[in-house]
Amino acid sequence: METKIVEIKKDNLNKEVLNEAGRILRSGGLVAFPTETVYGLGGDALNPESARKIYEAKGRPSDNPLIVHICETQALEALAEDIPEPARLLAERFWPGPLTMILKKTRRVPEETTGGLDTVAVRMPSDPIALELIRQAGGFVAAPSANRSGRPSPTCAKYVIEDMNGRIEMILAGEDSTIGLESTIIDLTSSVPMILRPGFITGEMLENLLGRVETDPNVLGKEGKEPPKAPGMRYRHYAPRGELIIVQGSPQKVIGQINELAAESLSQGKKTGIICAEETLSAYRADSIKSLGRRQEEETIARQLFRILREFDEEGTEVIFSEGFSEAGIGQAIMNRLLKAAGHRVIQV
Ligand code: TXA
Ligand code: MG
Repeated sequence: METKIVEIKKDNLNKEVLNEAGRILRSGGLVAFPTETVYGLGGDALNPESARKIYEAKGRPSDNPLIVHICETQALEALAEDIPEPARLLAERFWPGPLTMILKKTRRVPEETTGGLDTVAVRMPSDPIALELIRQAGGFVAAPSANRSGRPSPTCAKYVIEDMNGRIEMILAGEDSTIGLESTIIDLTSSVPMILRPGFITGEMLENLLGRVETDPNVLGKEGKEPPKAPGMRYRHYAPRGELIIVQGSPQKVIGQINELAAESLSQGKKTGIICAEETLSAYRADSIKSLGRRQEEETIARQLFRILREFDEEGTEVIFSEGFSEAGIGQAIMNRLLKAAGHRVIQV
């Protein structure tokens, strides 16, 4: 398939292009588009055939449900039943924005979209390109992250093109995602709301609004008794092609240990990389050393993580050692993604 790649700018929306993209979606085709979190791979959420195409283009198991993206809060009524009061509060406070809610689905939502579940994930993104595209598409766009299954989510158009060129009808190549990590997912179908995937909207922000909120124990790799409730959190994910190992502990010990491991890897002739904070960048020796940003600037770290994982792939890095990062605030989401990318290989020093 020939993929039409069109550049698009947030502050100068090309309505003609968005109209064409909307037409593609309405007729069952797929369009990748920017959102504030990561790029999405969109299809008509109410068309079972579109869901099948999304799974195929991503190479993703079809029991892993999709998030339905809407452009006005009212659209929730068509998708969800028995909408609880917390959902209304969350929508008012955090939409449009990086928050996805799990609710009981209506019959209008095909099981292909929800991976056979009787619940549906709904989000209203804030990116103006995404909002206008959803509007042009008729209001309901199913969109997983626009990466091939297992790879880091794309935060810029270049990586969407790398993964999706030739597989879908159109790519809207906009600016880089400003947040860089996927939305926070909160399940509102249980008696106490539960965070299934941490993100930019933190547990503390949710608790301030709702009172008690739980977090799926799987989120930080603490083996829960139950498998993660978001099926997508079960798979190895976000992974660079090279082997990734996290080293955690006091800063001096971490530096020492990473340098030792890197020296060993280099001596074996392996292309070796290191992920660290800006403050410790100069302390390391390896083929490729990348800083995610200053430790205090969590938003910068979040924005850069997936891009940096992809850069190691481009460079053909075979082994990567990463410092650990603070789990406060958005740090929880950062460490959740980093741990998953590492397949939970952590060395404590
Ligand atoms: O920020 C985002 O959420 C991005 C952008 C494109 O909006 N989308 C995204 O979609 O990250 P995806 O498909 O890569 O991740 C969706 C996650 C998966 O882990 C999936 O299992 C979970 O949401 N999910 C979807 N529907 C669910 C449901 N009904 N119950 C539990 N988990 C669900
Ligand atoms: Mg994804």
